[in-house]
Amino acid sequence: MKQRVGKIAGYKSELFANLRGKAERIVEIGVGTGPNLKYYADYPDILVFGVDPNRKMQKYAEAAAETAGFPPSNFRFMQAVAEALPLKDASVDAVVGTLVLCSVKDVDQALQEVRRVLKPGGLYIFVEHVAAKDGTLLRFVQGILDPLQQTVADGCHLTRHTATNIATAGFADLDVNQAVLSTASLINPHVYGVAYK
Ligand SMILES: C[S@@+](CC[C@H](N)C(=O)[O-])C[C@H]1O[C@@H](n2cnc3c(N)ncnc32)[C@H](O)[C@@H]1O
Repeated sequence: MKQRVGKIAGYKSELFANLRGKAERIVEIGVGTGPNLKYYADYPDILVFGVDPNRKMQKYAEAAAETAGFPPSNFRFMQAVAEALPLKDASVDAVVGTLVLCSVKDVDQALQEVRRVLKPGGLYIFVEHVAAKDGTLLRFVQGILDPLQQTVADGCHLTRHTATNIATAGFADLDVNQAVLSTASLINPHVYGVAYK
């Protein structure tokens, strides 16, 4: 696994470039306020389904879509969870999820749903924060603060091993990297990459 230090925007641009020419229908799990929508703006005619259980995110995500230049009919907010995507089998070219598997109730179920809705050869693009290396001070502090984080940050876990979940989810191929954000934070390191169905 490659290790980098930097800002999230740097490697997000590289990551989302994988969509070029490969995706017309995308579902983003945990779309939140829509910070990733600007990365799809270069792809004309793309249809994006933004899934989030929090209905309050809809107006922010729709505003972000408008700012990114999406025609209103090309962005559809869906109130749902990643563990039960309201989409047919093999119906999208790409699934995107950033900083969401820390919050879902069942990581493996969410990943099975990602695989189910992807067309064969489809891409799953992810950025997730994970537990720090065992034995480090950061890992120790994460362990102590994990219950508090779940309470104050809407169910966000600090100590998940999400890269392992992704690696064992049954994808045909996987490119995964690790980054440490230069802004010191408990939410480190990040794993990011592309998995292919
Ligand atoms: C930390 S925010 C990340 C938002 C955005 N993806 C980003 O990168 O900034 C986590 C989002 O996941 C959503 N979420 C929580 N549980 C979820 C679930 N089971 N399925 C899908 N989204 C979920 C939350 O409502 C929130 O909008």
